[in-house]
Amino acid sequence: MCGIIGINSSRPVSSTIISSLKKLEYRGYDSAGIATLSNNEINEVKSEGRVDNLENNLLVQKMEGTIGIGHVRWATHGLPNSINAHPHSSQNVSVVHNGIIENSTLLKKFLISKGHKFKSQTDTEVIVHLITENLKTENIVNSIKKTLKSLHGSFALGIIFKDQPDLIVGARRGSPLAVGYGPNENYLGSDSYALKAMTNKITYLNDGEFCIIKKDHVEFFNEDGDKINKKVLELSLEDEKYDKGDYKHFMAKEIEEQPTTLKNGINEYVDTLNNDINIYNFPWKTNEISSITLIGCGTAYHSCLLAKYWFEELTSLDVNVDIASEFRYRKNRFKKETLYIFVSQSGETADTYAALDLCNQNDMKTCAVVNVIESSIARDSKFVLPIHCGTEIGVASTKAFLGQILILYILALKLGSLRKDLKKELFNEKLKDLKSLPKLAEKTLLTDNKIQTISNTFNEAKGSMFLGRGFSFPIALEGALKLKELSYIHAEGYPAGEMKHGPLALIEEGMPVVVLAPRDNYYKKTISNMQEVIARGAKVLLVTNRSKDEVVSENIWEKIEVESANEDLLPFLLTIPLQKLAYYSALKKGFDIDKPRNLAKSVTVE
Ligand code: F6R
Repeated sequence: MCGIIGINSSRPVSSTIISSLKKLEYRGYDSAGIATLSNNEINEVKSEGRVDNLENNLLVQKMEGTIGIGHVRWATHGLPNSINAHPHSSQNVSVVHNGIIENSTLLKKFLISKGHKFKSQTDTEVIVHLITENLKTENIVNSIKKTLKSLHGSFALGIIFKDQPDLIVGARRGSPLAVGYGPNENYLGSDSYALKAMTNKITYLNDGEFCIIKKDHVEFFNEDGDKINKKVLELSLEDEKYDKGDYKHFMAKEIEEQPTTLKNGINEYVDTLNNDINIYNFPWKTNEISSITLIGCGTAYHSCLLAKYWFEELTSLDVNVDIASEFRYRKNRFKKETLYIFVSQSGETADTYAALDLCNQNDMKTCAVVNVIESSIARDSKFVLPIHCGTEIGVASTKAFLGQILILYILALKLGSLRKDLKKELFNEKLKDLKSLPKLAEKTLLTDNKIQTISNTFNEAKGSMFLGRGFSFPIALEGALKLKELSYIHAEGYPAGEMKHGPLALIEEGMPVVVLAPRDNYYKKTISNMQEVIARGAKVLLVTNRSKDEVVSENIWEKIEVESANEDLLPFLLTIPLQKLAYYSALKKGFDIDKPRNLAKSVTVE
């Protein structure tokens, strides 16, 4: 989704802005642009498509200037073309914006009546003209304060001014924004990752705050324009590798990294010496919690759905699951004894953040399961369980999903044991089994060749279905989501027992259907549902776990067997071949696997 960079320096900044924008490419975008100040003029270059296009344009149209802003745009208002790309500029002001201005139509009318001319179809352009208008009568601080008060909706802004050659303004409401500090230069970024190559000294803006960034210092203001002091945080300097190594795509690398994700999570939370789970500083007593509500979007929502089965199995807690975009607008009955768990890879998903904010406003117990620990969701939750899977670059979530479900499973075990819902012997046994999970995932990753061939059939089909019961149902949803987002093939995930109630009508001769039937409590029932779709002409790919008893059916088209494990752990293993199926389908179709069309890694608008 959209990303912002700003640099105020004494050296030329355009090439550093371009390389920082490349760091933001993982968020998913459709156009890019840059504006710098030189010789008392605002210069602006914008391109449709990738940052590479923008870079090529800059080879022709050299850009000078020691102060500048850059942006990658994911279209919300107006087509993804170079006119709608950011920055948007008037004679005096240039703006980059993440978020959505909800009252832009009204503001535009007002500004047109004042003689302002608009060039784009974006909501952002009203900000440019509003600041320009306010600057006629106000100084910088007051014009920004006045402008922000007129805006409804969400924003992170980077602003430069023709007549202020020594400063960049940053402002935040709803969309994340960070300030970075360097030697004789300072930065603005929509996340700390984009700034990481330049600095690890960061200040995050809170909602309603804005800042003035000069080369040698930064001033912060609250929404009333009063100066405030903010902390500088030192982020870890631990250097992660962001290259693809020998892999063709980040997604392929991230799928293969999953045994390490599991190992890291287990090392972090499992106390092998004492045969226990360490969740330090958990702020609530177990008798203060009687129910859990899990909230997320997309893949993270599937993690929540799966966790419901574990929490119900291993604890006596009541468990609810919600899609963040639904939760935030419903009339919720907030209960003091509910633990609200927010699951998010990025920690910046707008809907998940809004749901968290709502719970915080109601003084609820909030806990985040996130990958990016510097993120807004992590910072604003009362307790954080990091998943430690390292940066996930591929837009389609893979290792973060396994990381999320691992942490949720560990939390379910811990709460089950603390509440004495889970007997000590069973807890010990499950903990022992859990330690073998990374090895089992490693072995399951070896089923490669077969999946490559199988993916051909999916690519030729009009659509496909993924069926499962119990723990396998959320995995069916996740498998279908992966296939549709990467290979653009219509795919439906369904509880196998629901087929008769409508979707069976979709089954026709030759339709590929993935049936997830591990040897668990649901096995026999799922196999019956499988026979029903086979009888109607479906080509069934059965995904199960290795077992001495063969599955009896001559009519199964293909079978993939994952390693065997205790029932709780099978969902981890079943996920792997489905991720690969989606990967190989998209690979054969020649699609952009790490950046599927229309999608973004970090969904910072609702
Ligand atoms: C799908 C995918 C998305 C995300 C969703 C939530 O592969 O990645 O469905 O899971 O946008 O994102 P986070 O986890 O960052 O809150």
